[in-house]
Amino acid sequence: MSRMFPNGTGPAADPAGSHFERRIRSFQPRRSRVTAGQADALRRKWAAWGLDVDGQRSVDPAALFGGLPVVLEIGFGMGEATAQMAAADPGTGILAVDVHTPGQGNLIRLAERNGLSNIRVANGDAIILLREMLPAASLDGLRVYFPDPWPKTRHHKRRLIQPEFLDLAARRLRPGAVLHCATDWEPYAEQMLELLTAHPAYENTQEDGGYAPRPAQRPLTRFEGQGLDKGHTVHDVLFRRAAHLPASTPTPAA
Ligand SMILES: C[S@@+](CC[C@H](N)C(=O)[O-])C[C@H]1O[C@@H](n2cnc3c(N)ncnc32)[C@H](O)[C@@H]1O
Repeated sequence: MSRMFPNGTGPAADPAGSHFERRIRSFQPRRSRVTAGQADALRRKWAAWGLDVDGQRSVDPAALFGGLPVVLEIGFGMGEATAQMAAADPGTGILAVDVHTPGQGNLIRLAERNGLSNIRVANGDAIILLREMLPAASLDGLRVYFPDPWPKTRHHKRRLIQPEFLDLAARRLRPGAVLHCATDWEPYAEQMLELLTAHPAYENTQEDGGYAPRPAQRPLTRFEGQGLDKGHTVHDVLFRRAAHLPASTPTPAA
């Protein structure tokens, strides 16, 4: 990748050097081709709209968007749904993070083509972005749409939505900010609901304590479409960050 984008003209390859970190990851490195159009968009726009997740700097998300409220979207894939949400809500900045270079290029192309100024694209592992770079209570929302389901039992530990992730996310969300997850993988939906219900830093937005109806503002995503084609049922899980964090919540670099 560095040969494709020399001297900071595009996303850096593994900017945080995260392959040196001994940690189970929620993603699998993919070798997929970056098209000429995606590479061109990345070269031209990365300096203005890109953010390398190097784990070295603190980033004030609101400052990236001239003071707008900011929602973090983890794992935007090819970014079509992200671009739709940004177009529908220009008063919110979307900080979109993924490790997938073709998707980063695609989302930047979509933002440029549609004249969207409220998207920034972060290149790297969302855990490092949350843990090392974002200040406490700096996010107005968090979206995790169709995270990799890791269906095999021996891979469940790779799922993004785990108690440690929820601890970390709770500290980065403002009180009242909503964590919105969606999945078409039933056992993962059950896991999300169970973990969030048990976590004292979150409150279910649904009075009955169950799944939420699909919010109108969440567009159909690419991965969701594939799940629906297979006959899967989609679940949305929406929890609000509680007013106060429990004293027992660990404080990762708060
Ligand atoms: C199954 S895809 C879903 C993509 C998109 N949200 C959709 O619904 O079409 C999951 C995405 O999450 C990304 N991902 C997984 N773990 C991640 C992490 N820790 N940091 C950043 N991106 C991650 C993957 O690269 C992949 O693009």
